[in-house]
Amino acid sequence: MSKDVFIMGIESSCDETSISIVKNGREILSNVINSQISTHEVYGGVVPEIASRMHTEVINLIMKQSLKEANITLDEIDGIAVTYGPGLVGALLVGVSYAKALSFATNKPLIAVNHINGHVAANYITHKDLEPPFLCLIISGGHTYLVNVKDYNESEIIGKTKDDAIGEAFDKVARVCNLGYPGGPKIDNLAKSGVPNINLPISHLENYNFTFSGIKTAVINLNHKDPNINKADLCASFENAVTQMLIFNVEKAINEFNFEKVVLAGGVSRNSYIRKEFDELSKRLKVKVYYPDGILCTDNAAMIASSGYWEYLKGNFADLKLNAEPGLKL
Ligand code: KG4
Ligand code: ZN
Repeated sequence: MSKDVFIMGIESSCDETSISIVKNGREILSNVINSQISTHEVYGGVVPEIASRMHTEVINLIMKQSLKEANITLDEIDGIAVTYGPGLVGALLVGVSYAKALSFATNKPLIAVNHINGHVAANYITHKDLEPPFLCLIISGGHTYLVNVKDYNESEIIGKTKDDAIGEAFDKVARVCNLGYPGGPKIDNLAKSGVPNINLPISHLENYNFTFSGIKTAVINLNHKDPNINKADLCASFENAVTQMLIFNVEKAINEFNFEKVVLAGGVSRNSYIRKEFDELSKRLKVKVYYPDGILCTDNAAMIASSGYWEYLKGNFADLKLNAEPGLKL
């Protein structure tokens, strides 16, 4: 049997500082996440300067705690994987600089991870037998992609949003309904007591692309016209409409490309209504549908360590010239 590989993952692209140790790409030994949500909540969204400063304050402590929880020494780590984009430039730079310093000081290989591939990799941890190829719907606060995952960390984009990311639409709708930040989990809860009885525009674009700005504006206008509109019904109607848009493109792609596995990833894949509808799709089309465990849907370093593991196996290492790339694409 070959030797076990222990990868340290480092994530600081937005408002979570997280460091994790993952064994062989699939087994979490520790996954320490310091969320800054309560600090940013009062501003209604993430304040980049505050995010960077808070990452700097805690990153070294988080690293030590991560090693302690995993019951492992820095010496036993085989590689240091870090998110280098996309994300907030100042926030990314904290993780990238820290990872480079650690790699230099310990002489361990540095591995550059695309945050979006990290979201996909969260599924390799939750589902030990999941292997590419599969169709993946990445739905997060910053991204909405439908991709053909051909191999680990190798995918071809089939469709993407032409305007807002789906998570942005969730957060905006929650804001106009006065539910607070981040909006996704609040909408998820409130919608459970509502009925999807409000008509909202459902858009289908060519080529598997998505648009969420129309529905976002429709919800803002309805709220403006009638501030007493039933918020639970509005949230249920919003969830119902965006889910129909997601399912429409996913179903079209399954039929055209004959995928047998559909994988969801990203913060919005935690949504209970979306999961229920994808479970239905799974039965109806006889495809297997996968989601990450709840905590692995939103930003965390275990998914970065898993994605880094597949690069480690390929010998794909970065050097100390690695820089943050805020606009990095898939
Ligand atoms: O993946 P993530 O942590 O960050 C990005 O890489 O963007 O996603 C955060 C997004 C936020 O927009 C948040 O509102 C949304 O995921 N989210 C949810 C739920 N939990 C988090 N959206 C809908 N339902 C949820 N339960
Ligand atoms: Zn993310």
